[in-house]
Amino acid sequence: MPVIKISDNVYSVGVRHPDLKVFDLLMPLAYGTTYNSFLIKGEKNVLIDTVKLKFFDEFFQNLKEVIEPSKIDYIVIQHNELDHAGSLLSLLKFAPAARIIISKTAENFLANSFNIKLDFIKVDDSTEIKIGENRSLKFVSAPFLHWPDTMFTYFKEEKMLFTCDAFGAHYCPKNGIYSAEMSKEEYENDYFRQFKVYYEIIMRLYSTKVVAAYNKIKDLEIDLLLPAHGPIINSDIARHIKYYTDWSFSAPDPGLKKVTIVYSSMYGSTMKMAYHIESLLKNRGVKTFTAEIPFAMSESQMSEVIKEISTSDAVLFGSSTVCATVLKPIWDFLFFLATVELKGKSAGVFGSFGWDPQGLKIIELVLTNYKMKLIKDMYKIKFVPSEDKLLASETFVDELIASMNGA
Ligand code: FEO
Repeated sequence: MPVIKISDNVYSVGVRHPDLKVFDLLMPLAYGTTYNSFLIKGEKNVLIDTVKLKFFDEFFQNLKEVIEPSKIDYIVIQHNELDHAGSLLSLLKFAPAARIIISKTAENFLANSFNIKLDFIKVDDSTEIKIGENRSLKFVSAPFLHWPDTMFTYFKEEKMLFTCDAFGAHYCPKNGIYSAEMSKEEYENDYFRQFKVYYEIIMRLYSTKVVAAYNKIKDLEIDLLLPAHGPIINSDIARHIKYYTDWSFSAPDPGLKKVTIVYSSMYGSTMKMAYHIESLLKNRGVKTFTAEIPFAMSESQMSEVIKEISTSDAVLFGSSTVCATVLKPIWDFLFFLATVELKGKSAGVFGSFGWDPQGLKIIELVLTNYKMKLIKDMYKIKFVPSEDKLLASETFVDELIASMNGA
């Protein structure tokens, strides 16, 4: 990504990673990502975040286009994950006088990431650092958006809020760097979906913290939101911030219990169980959302199901068994649920088996680790469901409803 001048004093010096298919071996990507880094030039020169170490050379070339690196006075590390902090040590070799600004929580993380002693300026919500005549930076502690150390940086005189992962998206814009440069089609069909997927997979787990951060920034004058992934948001700022709070406030309808049913089915038997359970739940006045987990689940399918689970009182997991295990899509999906708040939600396991149903216990073990409230008996059917075999689902549904009602 070329250097882009954002204002008279602020430059984008980050890099693009358009061919990245999976982020952190965790999140499938459709549009790659960017590692954004910003340089504020002036009486004091401030770099906000670095980039993944693999891209240091490109990043360093960008920096050198706008500043002699030894003239950097401050490096703000808003979050220690190595896609943003990864080039810090390499850069310090060329900027030895730079002071490193971090949140108070970050010290231990950085010390254990780089395993050398570094000298930090630790900041919090009350800190203001002057960077020139009538120019200063303030900091907004935003813990768990999405790590405990995360903070934002507010450049009041330019009305810029740098937000690291928050309000980011794994998205390489087709052209330019701003949200307002996109066509309506690109914005709605491509970028905005990634903006939402990013929230669902990275931020939703910490929705109460999102609301806390919102309360700190809601009265700031902001002309530009500058996240560390994806485009700079220069259109409808308030609306983009509000999306985060709206999504964070989404909660189950208090008057109606809701169950999400997810399943993978080899020959349709487990699918038949899933839809039979769904019909019983509906007959009992329970709201349902049922989804098949396919072999290759797209990031938007995943975020949709995660959103439904987040607003459900209970989740049911179904799989065919394969020898002593369950189908790979369910394994994969269980892995993704590590980023979802499941603690205390009711859960149950069902599936069809051939000669040994023990594979289903793997699901139970994972759900127990996620601190879900597992109903006592899994519901299993040997080979193909019949009307008689499906009768047992009544008991399964009874147990689930009792669990949701606090039993
Ligand atoms: Fe983009 Fe949490 O790092």
